[in-house]
Amino acid sequence: MEYLHGFEKKEQDRLVHQARFLEPYVYAGVDFRKVNRLLEVGCGVGAQSRILLKKFPKIKITGVDFSSAQLHVAAQYLKKPIKDERVELFQQDAQKLTLDYKKYDAAFLCWFLEHVPEPLKVLKQVHKHLKPGAQIVLTEVFNQALFMEPYSPSYLRYWFEFNELQWTMKGHPFIGAQLGHLLKEAGFKSIQVEFRPLHFDSRNPKQRADFIEFFFQILLSAESKLRDQNKVSDALVKQMFKEVEIAKKAKDSVFFYSFARATAIR
Ligand SMILES: C[S@@+](CC[C@H](N)C(=O)[O-])C[C@H]1O[C@@H](n2cnc3c(N)ncnc32)[C@H](O)[C@@H]1O
Repeated sequence: MEYLHGFEKKEQDRLVHQARFLEPYVYAGVDFRKVNRLLEVGCGVGAQSRILLKKFPKIKITGVDFSSAQLHVAAQYLKKPIKDERVELFQQDAQKLTLDYKKYDAAFLCWFLEHVPEPLKVLKQVHKHLKPGAQIVLTEVFNQALFMEPYSPSYLRYWFEFNELQWTMKGHPFIGAQLGHLLKEAGFKSIQVEFRPLHFDSRNPKQRADFIEFFFQILLSAESKLRDQNKVSDALVKQMFKEVEIAKKAKDSVFFYSFARATAIR
């Protein structure tokens, strides 16, 4: 199966960096202190699993991903907790999850549903695997919400092509806005959806520069696929680099993005 960011070592390292970098934003309000068995769907290289284990010393994680390349790295990265029987990993397509029904006290999905052709199927599967009353916590993109000042047309053009590419790969770059509907369709109740702004300007220049760079790396993670499909030209990429440099240095620059956090109960 295809996956927008690919499975290169650089991309796997980026996932670990991303999880650490966004930890304060992603984990705000996540409380698994009473959870024993956690289902982590789309666990990738285990970047979030490691944070979850550290934050919640009592949980046991069942991690699922469809990629053997990701799980191979996860098995190394989580060697100790696997040995201590705090983590088990399974290679499965989350749209056809086959673990034990009604076994899990909570589920955690992060930067994941955007990559799945049929996210509703995943949520229906997760619903079956959770115990009644268990919570699902989702953190997902809403790529419509990217803004950068000074106006950066090449950056925005590239971002359009990035999202367009994800569409053609049957992904969902705007799924954050659909989570409420999808959770309802999957049978969840007590659904809450909120958007978490990442908004930086001259009041916090260090974070602003860090976020501009961080997002730039996300854009670049699809560069080879975009080039292969002739969706971006050399000239566009070159111009985008320039715009990003300007935004990083400009005194009055602004970075804005907003992701979605949803919670619900089975
Ligand atoms: C952006 S990564 C996020 C990984 C992890 N949640 C994190 O935040 O670091 C998305 C992951 O979803 C996996 N994936 C994509 N489609 C999948 C599917 N249908 N079933 C299971 N895993 C899938 C990919 O292999 C990749 O590891």
